[in-house]
Amino acid sequence: MQKNNELKENEEFEHNEDDNMANGNVEMSKNELSLRDLPGVGDATAEKLIASGYDSLMSIAVASPDEIVDATGLGESVARRMISAAREKLDMGFESGEKLLQKRKAVIKINSGSDALDKLLGGGFETSSITECFGEFGSGKTQIAHVLSVRVQQQIKGSSVVYIDTENTFRPERIEQISKGLNMDVKDVLKNIKVARAYNSDHQMLLAEKIEDLIKKERLNVKLVVVDSLTAHFRAEFIGRGTLANRQQKLNRHMHTLLKLADTYNLCVYVTNQVMAKPDVFFGDPTAAIGGNIVAHASTFRVYLRKGKKGTRVGKLVDSPNLPEGEAGFVITETGIKDI
Ligand code: GTP
Ligand code: MG
Repeated sequence: MQKNNELKENEEFEHNEDDNMANGNVEMSKNELSLRDLPGVGDATAEKLIASGYDSLMSIAVASPDEIVDATGLGESVARRMISAAREKLDMGFESGEKLLQKRKAVIKINSGSDALDKLLGGGFETSSITECFGEFGSGKTQIAHVLSVRVQQQIKGSSVVYIDTENTFRPERIEQISKGLNMDVKDVLKNIKVARAYNSDHQMLLAEKIEDLIKKERLNVKLVVVDSLTAHFRAEFIGRGTLANRQQKLNRHMHTLLKLADTYNLCVYVTNQVMAKPDVFFGDPTAAIGGNIVAHASTFRVYLRKGKKGTRVGKLVDSPNLPEGEAGFVITETGIKDI
């Protein structure tokens, strides 16, 4: 666990109690003491579950049987029964449209500095969702990650950022420039960005799983999680045909962790993805995002970034649930990004 120390700096953080209202935690606390009501859960198992972070019916209801088996050493069929009992007790599966609308109202749209790009996304980078930017090198994926890390703090006072950096491209100097452009206190902004270097895909997955601890135990009001790059380690480690299924399974678990965070804590997840050449495409765009359907399906918004004319960048929205496809141009500047 030593590698995680970057994530565990002990600093004082301001915590706004009201924020809990927005992230769906309210129901969870009601159920925290009823783990023992589940079939197969005695004192010892309850302790193991809580020690592994399964401290509420909700956390068990949304877990997979494998996760529970890993955490408790129980058999799979017991784990399955436990999960379905938790689901029954929580009456989950269906939410009224009214409640969903209320949840949607709690969604915050983080502005990027480019109105065109924000408009393309229906107003900005949404909390409660995963937004993926994919594109060739230098297309601006990492720049957008830096911009959002600063702007989320301007928009949501007292918020924190978790930045999982797999390529060693996080630059505090860049945060400094962007903060100055927005007249923000550079020291404060940097203090509220928790950066962790991920050394391989397993480490990356572990870091993502630890974010919940930062929120629950360290009471950080995390409103943005960056994973830059989402796929580079996976791509480098799983080479050859035989390893593809394994890679996709792990990526799927990783996306599931991120999606759960976004949904449970009403936070924005921003991930970047590279493209690869498709040798079999002769017409249209000969590139495709890494990670295939697994990443595509888990991402709520997908933006394809490319370099445009005269140093501009162009973002194109690809398959979104409720927005028309379209394009937005922007430029990268000393203080962030802005409209052309
Ligand atoms: P890969 O990670 O290599 O796949 O690329 P990326 O999509 O993450 O690219 P990134 O976001 O790092 O964009 C790099 C580009 O941003 C550079 O080519 C520069 O053109 C531009 N850039 C970076 N810093 C500055 C700056 O301070 N001022 C200006 N004007 N442009 C900058
Ligand atoms: Mg990059």
